[in-house]
Amino acid sequence: MSSDDLDDFENTDYELEKFADSDDNLAKFEKIFAKKRKVLENGFNSNKVENQVLDKSTMFTMYEMINAKVISYVNGIVKAGKESVLFWAVGPDGQNIALKVYLVSTVSFKKRIPYIIGDPRFTRLKHGTRNMVYLWAKKEFRNLRQCVRNNIPVPKPIHVSKNVLALEFIGKNGVPAPTLHETEIDESDYTQAIDIMTKLYRDARLVHGDFSEYNVFKTDSGLILFDLGSAVDTTHPNAQNFLERDIKNITYFFAKRGLTVKNPTDVLSEMIS
Ligand SMILES: Nc1ncnc2c1ncn2[C@@H]1O[C@H](COP(=O)(O)OP(=O)(O)OP(=O)(O)O)[C@@H](O)[C@H]1O
Ligand SMILES: [Mg+2]
Repeated sequence: MSSDDLDDFENTDYELEKFADSDDNLAKFEKIFAKKRKVLENGFNSNKVENQVLDKSTMFTMYEMINAKVISYVNGIVKAGKESVLFWAVGPDGQNIALKVYLVSTVSFKKRIPYIIGDPRFTRLKHGTRNMVYLWAKKEFRNLRQCVRNNIPVPKPIHVSKNVLALEFIGKNGVPAPTLHETEIDESDYTQAIDIMTKLYRDARLVHGDFSEYNVFKTDSGLILFDLGSAVDTTHPNAQNFLERDIKNITYFFAKRGLTVKNPTDVLSEMIS
């Protein structure tokens, strides 16, 4: 990939169009955010907010997911970040579904390039930010599927279409389970975290790339790893660096919380031996 190619990512900008501008779109909007939806308590529940963060194309993608019976309706926004917005949706069997919507904005995209180029699973790339964002969503879907196949605890992936990823909702009533960062931790959490990272490397042949206390849920049935968009194949040229960094980050977290931890270098050599 040349630097010209990289410039492409900056040139494509998309204007956010207000979806509910026409009557036809308004009807779709009302189907997506059905009246029977539960109202969230965090202030992210007004149509106005939803209409502001979602562009027309994303709304259509959600609408198509309803027609395809992947979801029945969307309750509302759970969390809005710079790169993605998390929605709480409900499936045809009443199950809670997390919709991770990747925002098609150019700002933070260059950061992601090193996690794609070099991964043997993604050799043919279409140019343009929008396509790169779609690819990123697909990459997270595939990474999650690879984890599930190898019995690594992650939210089960359900569907991916364009920039919208549907996955099992971890938590209750639209409230995500707490992350390690937000909870009390103990010895067993440390053991589980290292265990998950080891299985990810050895069995799923992946390195997370952003393994931290912010990307691990703590649930009654144990830790659940998430946010796998950045995960790369172990043959990626930077896989070893990413793995080293992941081990260091999580080790520092547990050490900071007062646990006795192993030396990151020893953890690494044990993991790859
Ligand atoms: N499957 C899920 N079930 C419930 N909540 C989820 C799920 N996936 C993500 N979340 C919630 O959304 C937040 C952001 O998710 P995630 O880390 O995947 O996205 P991100 O774009 O990396 O955001 P951030 O920059 O905040 O890390 C999580 O901290 C969590 O609270
Ligand atoms: Mg995250």
